[in-house]
Amino acid sequence: MKPALPRWFAHRGGGVLAPENTLAGIRLAARLGYVAVEFDVMLSGDGTPVLIHDETLERTTNGQGLVAETPDAVLFSLDAGQGETIPGFAEAAALCRELGLLANIEIKPSAGQDERTACLVAELTKTYWQGARVQPLISSFSLPALEIARDLAPEIRRGVLYEAVPANWASELRRLGAISLHCDADLLNDKVLDEAAALDVPVLCYTVNWEKQAKILFERGVSAVFTDRLDLFVPTAKAECGGQ
Ligand code: G3P
Ligand code: MG
Repeated sequence: MKPALPRWFAHRGGGVLAPENTLAGIRLAARLGYVAVEFDVMLSGDGTPVLIHDETLERTTNGQGLVAETPDAVLFSLDAGQGETIPGFAEAAALCRELGLLANIEIKPSAGQDERTACLVAELTKTYWQGARVQPLISSFSLPALEIARDLAPEIRRGVLYEAVPANWASELRRLGAISLHCDADLLNDKVLDEAAALDVPVLCYTVNWEKQAKILFERGVSAVFTDRLDLFVPTAKAECGGQ
């Protein structure tokens, strides 16, 4: 049987209605009825896991330079938009637990930091979600990071992230003990969908920001989408969310 997952994931925390990868975004997603949020986790210059997408600070904050070279004292003082600060992974985890949200933790290592990031995120995920009713889902484009997550936190569900899905995706998921296939909605083909359906593997697509595309993807058998458009897609019925 296909693992049950919510249909809608708020992408980068709160999508376009709040600054991305912030606690305000996560809170807003929950308030709008989302039961699942995706966010990106990278290490700071001090090795602290924080929520941020880019390796550089310029696009989403008033800071400059590389996240991996910025000490916490500087990083946590930056404005991440609308007066929000960059959250630590610890704070985001606590908020997701408090709100009962399914967290899709995307391990997003800076260049050359796959192992270090994965080790820390895997260990901390186990700790932060110990005994939680809603358990998280770890994903990454980095297959080495997922291998580490598999070895250090085998009980935490894993999803493999691709842009275009390669021909050997199913054997990679098996090797990594992953339960879900995540990919770029625009690059998904029917062969992959047929193979995933035959194997009962849920397919999750990013980033889906218009209604017609979501409708077509669900009709084609996609299980869930990541969206920035929290204003457009408002999950209503719990049933629609696979019981999570
Ligand atoms: O996890 C899905 C999606 O977030 C992957 O792309 O670049 O937005 O992290 P990106
Ligand atoms: Mg992401």
